[in-house]
Amino acid sequence: MTNIGIIGAGRIGKVHCESITRYVKGAAVTVMAEPFLTEESERAIKELGVPKIVKDYKEILADKSVDAVLICSSTDTHAAISLEAIKAGKHVFCEKPVDHSIDKIMQVKKALEGSGVKYQVGFNRRFDHNFAAVRKGVEDGRIGRLNLLKICSRDPAAPPVSYIKVSGGIFLDMTIHDFDMVRYISGDEVESVYAVGGVLVDEEIGKAGDIDTAIITLRLKSGALAVIDNCRRSVYGYDQRAEAFGEKGQIAISNDTASNAVVSDASGVTAEKPLLFFLERYMQAYVSEVSQFIDCIVNDKPVPVGIDDGLQAVVIGLAAAKSLKEGREVKLSEISM
Ligand SMILES: NC(=O)c1ccc[n+]([C@@H]2O[C@H](COP(=O)([O-])OP(=O)(O)OC[C@H]3O[C@@H](n4cnc5c(N)ncnc54)[C@H](O)[C@@H]3O)[C@@H](O)[C@H]2O)c1
Repeated sequence: MTNIGIIGAGRIGKVHCESITRYVKGAAVTVMAEPFLTEESERAIKELGVPKIVKDYKEILADKSVDAVLICSSTDTHAAISLEAIKAGKHVFCEKPVDHSIDKIMQVKKALEGSGVKYQVGFNRRFDHNFAAVRKGVEDGRIGRLNLLKICSRDPAAPPVSYIKVSGGIFLDMTIHDFDMVRYISGDEVESVYAVGGVLVDEEIGKAGDIDTAIITLRLKSGALAVIDNCRRSVYGYDQRAEAFGEKGQIAISNDTASNAVVSDASGVTAEKPLLFFLERYMQAYVSEVSQFIDCIVNDKPVPVGIDDGLQAVVIGLAAAKSLKEGREVKLSEISM
């Protein structure tokens, strides 16, 4: 049995707790750490059968019976807790992003060298059945040489401005998943980025110094082009689509819906909206990513999404932020490592 400690009992901490306790064989969440535990969260965690809840994550790191930790606390804590966890010899699954600072991510990378610690970054979309199918088609050469990659990623509603203020901005908080998808689907690296953005959803987001709508164009090393469109508001639900287009054809994925029922009547033809948000849309991916993390620990395999993937997505995000600010195409080589 692999004993897991989860640090942070917010939205994503509870998702991982549920997926391990309900669906992952050979692993158990033996402890969770949360300094600001609400009654509702405590009840939910206890209902999932977690025997212990502590306030201070250091208790988890000192617990010899814990094999691995999932860092699900707010982003500003990830790098420091990662360093402590590596020192304590715990395997780590760290939610995205590892940090907003390249310097801090590099410190984590250095600490991992020769440590024997498995370190996986929470880019869950790589484990989604649809996105994995696009990757497989590209990898198998179904569309020949990749020419264009289009990713559409729109949230159903903007988070509170308090969240926006500490999020690191749309590129490091939201688009970071899409940057990782560009690397994952293409199997290529990004060379340069051009970003344009606006405040079209909520003026308060603009006042907090962020944007809520963006188009990001990326040039890949192979010469292929990619485009990502983001918006913090999509009234019909979580819009998550992609299309890879190449010399021999295209592979496209559409949204998952609760059913594929289509109602046709005198007023028109109506189908289901996309699933509401990430909890509904990506549950299968969350289960799959932690299952693979645990498999890597038990069978001593390399993790499927490592610290370099965490680093690259942040480098692209910082280049996008620089491009938006300076109104020009920015090469990733301009972002100092
Ligand atoms: N991969 C995904 O799909 C996905 C989805 C949502 C969030 N995230 C990432 O997960 C992280 C958490 O996001 P969230 O939406 O769950 O936020 P959240 O605010 O709901 O939860 C974060 C929790 O961490 C707790 N916390 C803060 N400092 C702590 C500490 N020192 N020790 C233990 N707990 C601490 C907070 O009290 C809070 O309960 C963020 O980095 C976010 O980017 C990833």
